[in-house]
Amino acid sequence: MPRGRLISFEGIDGSGKSTQAEQIELYLRGKGFEVKLFREPGGTPLGEAVREILLSPRGSDIAMDGLSEYLLFAASRAELTGKVIKPLLDRSCTVLLDRYGDSSLAYQGYGRGVDIDIIRRVNRLATGGLKPDLTVLLDLDPDTALSRINRASDRIEQYGADFFRKVREGYLTLAEAEPDRFRVVDASLDVDVITGQILMHIESLFNQDGITI
Ligand code: TYD
Repeated sequence: MPRGRLISFEGIDGSGKSTQAEQIELYLRGKGFEVKLFREPGGTPLGEAVREILLSPRGSDIAMDGLSEYLLFAASRAELTGKVIKPLLDRSCTVLLDRYGDSSLAYQGYGRGVDIDIIRRVNRLATGGLKPDLTVLLDLDPDTALSRINRASDRIEQYGADFFRKVREGYLTLAEAEPDRFRVVDASLDVDVITGQILMHIESLFNQDGITI
């Protein structure tokens, strides 16, 4: 039985990544696959507590520099990876992640200026070297993305449009550097068209294990 596949979804806030991850989860489950979806930060009691500090309106009052912010995301990642993701992959479950290590590289690294090399090293430590088999990057210009968010902004969303331009460019740089892992999808397209494109990418990944979907 092959190890389960790990697929992450990345993109700036408002790119529609969470909607797509949920659609893919439903689709694969409908086809009889064992599949789990987690969001970062979160997915464990510690992760949810970290999420509260980092993203709740209450947490927005707590000032923190980029490195401290990153280390909190990393703590959530270490907990989720060791306690949840790895055991699921070991029993051949497909794991979908709404954000993973690339979010820290894009947001805290390219966005907030934390040393990229430090993030890579700590990410490696937090994940024990685990990397997604496939990363779907939903690419969208920040003005369109931010205009889609119709709820109160969290801490990160308050960093503003210039910050998100840097994050987007950062993501595209990451995708260019690892073309085998990343698939960039135009997030301005129709929702169903995007889902279809993502499914094609997942299909070719599964085909490598001789699995058809
Ligand atoms: P969330 O409400 O899940 O937003 P989204 O639906 O856009 O993913 O909040 C996650 C926020 O945390 C989002 O603004 C991105 C940010 N984030 C980082 O800055 N670094 C990270 O490592 C992770 C995982 C998330």
